[in-house]
Amino acid sequence: MENKSIKIIKNGPYVVTGSIKLTEKIITSQGKGYVYTAGRNLPQAKTYTLCRCGKSKNPPFCDGEHSKCAFHGEETASKAAFLDRAEFLIGADLDMRDDHRCAFARFCHRNDGTAWELIKQSDDPRLKEEAIKAASECPAGRLVAFEKNGTAIEPEYEPEIVILQDPERGVSCGIFVKGRIPLLSADGHPYERQNRFVLCRCGESVNKPFCDATHVHIKYQDG
Ligand code: FES
Repeated sequence: MENKSIKIIKNGPYVVTGSIKLTEKIITSQGKGYVYTAGRNLPQAKTYTLCRCGKSKNPPFCDGEHSKCAFHGEETASKAAFLDRAEFLIGADLDMRDDHRCAFARFCHRNDGTAWELIKQSDDPRLKEEAIKAASECPAGRLVAFEKNGTAIEPEYEPEIVILQDPERGVSCGIFVKGRIPLLSADGHPYERQNRFVLCRCGESVNKPFCDATHVHIKYQDG
């Protein structure tokens, strides 16, 4: 894992090293919830650069367009730890933390309700399982379910980078980073190591480098 990383280039792309698997997934509705379906096959490489400015003509890869469009990619997100940033929500048999970093992937919605509704009913074992899924399937890592003894419940992920597409909204979504891949700021500082997060690739997030759902408002489409 130590040779795997994502390095942010100042006003430029994400440089991915360490032969990290690259896939594309489509956010697809199913009932009142969502699942991922397979997208295009993307080329695999030891090192690759992913577009961060939203203007590449060869998405999801950088083609140098960021220098022509004078991309301002200043990192504005807090580097404080999740536990220090997140709101603590108390449920029946499950608690949840919510850092409000929404990528608008909508996996917090399930047939029996939203993650916030489900934790309140988590004294029902079936709804507890649903609440855990609603929190854990959030790609942004915004929501984390906690047992009452304080243990965080996280899905097991292999390192992988997933380019998200959201045809239901007619847009392309961010970059879902799975499996605790280190993320390094353009100034060399590491962000907190997280199991799941979504990076902005439309270039317009106000919480760079993380996705804040702006791609929906600006109708970003990569193809
Ligand atoms: S970051 Fe290089 S083309 Fe977008």
